[in-house]
Amino acid sequence: MALTDAASERGQFSSRFGFIAAATGSAVGLGNIWGFPTQTASHGGGAFVLAYLILTFLLAYPALMAELIIGRHTRHNMVGALPELTKKPALKIIGRVTGFYGVAIASLILSFYTIVAGWLMAQVPAALAGINSQVPTTSWLSESSLLRDSLFCGVFSLLTASIVARGVKEGIERWSTRLMPALVLLMLGLVATVLTLPGAMEGLRLYLVPNFSVITDPGLLTGAMGQAFFSLSLGVGTMLIYGSYVSKADNLPLTGAYVALIDTGIAFLAGLLIIPALFVAQYQGIEIYNSDNTLIAGPDLILQTLPSLFNSLGIVGGFIGLVFFLLLTIAALTSSISMLEVPVTFVLETFKTSRSRATWLVGVIIFGLSLLILNNFDLLFAGVISFTTKYSQPLLGVMLCLFAGWVLHRNKLLKEISTGFTGAKDSLFWKIWPGYIRFVCPLLIILMFVQNVRS
Ligand code: PHE
Repeated sequence: MALTDAASERGQFSSRFGFIAAATGSAVGLGNIWGFPTQTASHGGGAFVLAYLILTFLLAYPALMAELIIGRHTRHNMVGALPELTKKPALKIIGRVTGFYGVAIASLILSFYTIVAGWLMAQVPAALAGINSQVPTTSWLSESSLLRDSLFCGVFSLLTASIVARGVKEGIERWSTRLMPALVLLMLGLVATVLTLPGAMEGLRLYLVPNFSVITDPGLLTGAMGQAFFSLSLGVGTMLIYGSYVSKADNLPLTGAYVALIDTGIAFLAGLLIIPALFVAQYQGIEIYNSDNTLIAGPDLILQTLPSLFNSLGIVGGFIGLVFFLLLTIAALTSSISMLEVPVTFVLETFKTSRSRATWLVGVIIFGLSLLILNNFDLLFAGVISFTTKYSQPLLGVMLCLFAGWVLHRNKLLKEISTGFTGAKDSLFWKIWPGYIRFVCPLLIILMFVQNVRS
């Protein structure tokens, strides 16, 4: 009895702010603070920024709307939601299979995401130990080892699960509304500090002045598209499930636009932090170019170059490092809870079990996957990342656009958008979006996907 109650009682965000905090919490993550600046660094600075901004509003925002609308319309997880949009048995099967694929990809993304988050979280106590001059502890914490990585991945997974187990309002919404404002403040503080350091202006120039000679580089556009999809948490049913918790009184196109704007704004801010910091490091005598003359990107940038910079700045650098890694941990946490919510709601709604049981069960399985990856790192880590983010997310994005555009009936679509948005029928959104999601979005995504596979 108690179990059935728990399963049938769907959570709902208590306010529009609650939803925006949770959805931007999901969107703003390592993709923004790590992925975006490092991709910018390796793709010619400002040109990548421009491509990213255009693709976010051309492709990612419409796809985000598809997920939010399907979610709020069906009030289900992806596996339950897609079949519900149609009466045709064959389409129902395709919907269910797509849903399963989404749940699997969300779980796989979480399994590598918690590893990376663990690396970053370990730097928080490392910075504290550094400030207290405890050399052996600092070096154990800041250097990768199977024990350290498994331990911090475990702690981070535990944190994630303990928030999700508390439910939509008490867990996800409460923690997102606390952590997101903290994240924005920490970020602004760091940007202001770094921009005053010598060398920063050179980085700023690289970041903001587009070098148009690289704009036709195919890797640039597909990189920017992948980045936009990953950053807005698209394709895997995260936004769909958060959409299913939005009140019918909310104006979805407007709320969705806020989420896309805030996510992009924070990625942009992160670029203002990381790229100038890289050039401050150069000013301090730290090598910031690889042997082939490209800027250092990826894990080396975050886990070596920046820590060396913090070290070179003495005690002030110690504090900057502490805040920086705290910021990354917070950003990762509000994203990982949204990923875990996907398989958890699937188990919850399919097996009618309690939320806490579903959370711990799924949490343990995903932690098992993370351990498997950690123990076979060279074989699995990079492969899992490209399979999930480079190939699966865009493909799932296409499927969601097709379901919203072709399968969900136009009248129902309009009715869903009109709840909470009076005048939807005559709005610019309704004039453009439905046709856009049917033709333009899927075609553009497929085109870029093919590019991606061929290169
Ligand atoms: N958007 C998150 C980030 O930028 C990652 C994410 C992907 C979250 C997929 C949920 C689902 O880091």
